[in-house]
Amino acid sequence: MPHANRRMMTEDGTDKRFATRSVHSGTQHIEGAVNTPIFQSSTYYLTDERYAGWAAGAQHTLLYSRLSSVNSEACVEKICAMEGAEDGELFASGMAAISTVLMGLLSNGDHIVASPDVYGGTYGLMTADLPRFGIEVTMADMQDPASYEAAIQPNTKMLYIETLSNPVLKVCDIEAMAKIAQKHNLLLVVDNTFTTPWACQPLSMGCHLSIHSTTKYLGGHSQVVGGAVVGNAGLIAELFPKKVHFGGSPDPHACYLLEQGMRTLAARMPIHCSNAADIARRLDSHPLINSVNHPSLPSHPDYEVAQRTMPNGTGMLAFVVKGGDAAALSFMRKLEIIFEATSLGGVESLIECPFNSSHMSIPEEIRHASGVVPGFVRLSIGIEDVEDLWDDISQALS
Ligand SMILES: Cc1ncc(COP(=O)(O)O)c(C=O)c1O
Repeated sequence: MPHANRRMMTEDGTDKRFATRSVHSGTQHIEGAVNTPIFQSSTYYLTDERYAGWAAGAQHTLLYSRLSSVNSEACVEKICAMEGAEDGELFASGMAAISTVLMGLLSNGDHIVASPDVYGGTYGLMTADLPRFGIEVTMADMQDPASYEAAIQPNTKMLYIETLSNPVLKVCDIEAMAKIAQKHNLLLVVDNTFTTPWACQPLSMGCHLSIHSTTKYLGGHSQVVGGAVVGNAGLIAELFPKKVHFGGSPDPHACYLLEQGMRTLAARMPIHCSNAADIARRLDSHPLINSVNHPSLPSHPDYEVAQRTMPNGTGMLAFVVKGGDAAALSFMRKLEIIFEATSLGGVESLIECPFNSSHMSIPEEIRHASGVVPGFVRLSIGIEDVEDLWDDISQALS
């Protein structure tokens, strides 16, 4: 049976366009199936060839599903094809991906520069766990590459950034960060969850590894928890045995669900992003709203950087309701279509107040200093009709 060319390369060696890769790359047409079938098997027949592959350290050998599975391989190929990555690994959650990168590539005595604006779970790992293993972390400002450079020490090994900070949506100047990483010979690791490979290609801007919580836009239907790391082949080879030891590998069925989600990424993302830009514009002039954060708004402090590094934007939006947290909670609970829940990136719009959900582990003074002020609301805009979303927001605000 013909199998899909793993990266959808044309004969002259150039890539097919993004949407074609997101549909076809990696998908395995076993026995002529249009979709990669679910290989719900923990282990594989141990042939001499497989044993030799494993003994040689080959990452993508089908041997045991903690190492890789037909379904994880299909997903890795698809993400690599979408993001222009040499190689990748799949994980059971975004946090499994992040912890394997940090604990796997850093050692006792190493130092990293990160930011208090990173996702709350990442912040917790960096502040509560990395120091227990002798890994030093300095927090700098992702919006200000010079602050990262100023924090570099002789034992610094890695700069850690997010394309867009969660939940404040500060835009990181990835190109400027890459210049600093290159100058000081450091690894540059980015969390690309909020933008996805559709909206941002951080590897082409000089990042070495790009991380995803595939739970979000890549899965796209709030149907599965997962994570991925893609990028430089040498680093992925270094990461693979750490994944095998730490054990945060995905189940084949979860990979199957993820692959189905990714096949429609290029169709969903333009709607997420244009709906979000539209709602941001309308909220911006609403009398009960104090401020709106969305990189498509010319008033956003990083508008120019966003136009350069992620012109397609994001479906994420944040705003501050007048009247503080109580007013924000009361607004949220009057919504009828938009669903109050943590997480993001699904076809349905989800809303939360970070103080009592995604960012509750971050101390209040740090939250306030990074812009998560009283009344702050994070909204993940889905692909519903934008007029229905606006009607829902308007009635809940009134
Ligand atoms: C930007 C970002 N990175 C990583 C994670 C962690 O992903 P997961 O929940 O899949 O472990 C999240 C979760 O919300 C996130 O928003």
